[in-house]
Amino acid sequence: MRWTVLTLFPEVFRPPWSAGLFGKAVEKGILEVDLVNYRDYAEGRHKVVDDTPFGGGSGMVIKVEPVARALLELRTKNPKVHVVLLTPQGALLNQAKVRRLCGHGHLALLCGRYEGVDERIRRLVDEELSIGDYVLSGGEPAAWVLMDAVSRLVPGVLGSEESVCEESFSEGSLLEYPQYTRPREHSGLEVPEILLSGDHQAIARWRRRQALLRTVRRRPELLESLSMTEEERTWLLEQERFEGD
Ligand code: ADE
Repeated sequence: MRWTVLTLFPEVFRPPWSAGLFGKAVEKGILEVDLVNYRDYAEGRHKVVDDTPFGGGSGMVIKVEPVARALLELRTKNPKVHVVLLTPQGALLNQAKVRRLCGHGHLALLCGRYEGVDERIRRLVDEELSIGDYVLSGGEPAAWVLMDAVSRLVPGVLGSEESVCEESFSEGSLLEYPQYTRPREHSGLEVPEILLSGDHQAIARWRRRQALLRTVRRRPELLESLSMTEEERTWLLEQERFEGD
């Protein structure tokens, strides 16, 4: 998979992509990351990329021309590139969108800055995404989040060779079951007996139930699109008598 990040601050992307699993995937050529500074597409001696808004108001707005030139070059080189603008006004990112994006061979992420981008930039992109209902100072951290969530699904990045892009929506929308490692007891808190039993079938059932319980208690809205067996449904209803998680 290839990533192109269009940003005024390419240097902030180097550390996350040179370390750990992603660094290794880049080394192996499983992931490619190109950093494009749209200042390089600005005109004049001062390479101006932002300007004051028409109609007045505070702050600066990213100009359309440098972004348009950078995107034109990108689309000429690869007409299949899928361009995403990171903005708090975009559609909310979720695991289903992450999986869909994983199907694109080349994603370009456009990071906004300052008080916003010229409205005409929106016409140049394929979609607008937000990573949450809060405002960041720029799109760069949002771009990392998106790159991390999508790249971990690319075969070979996390070790597994098989594609998880197509894993079912239901799998992805269930919260993780609780995990434990040594020691067996810490400050009076014990690892559940079943995990020490060696009974893989029973462990799988326990994990699935814990994932369901955790999801129903913390994020009940995620369960709407999930298929459950009658037995699981009954078990969940029984748990409602108990408090906490
Ligand atoms: N840029 C600023 N805030 C953002 C957010 N919440 N998501 C995506 N891009 C952003």
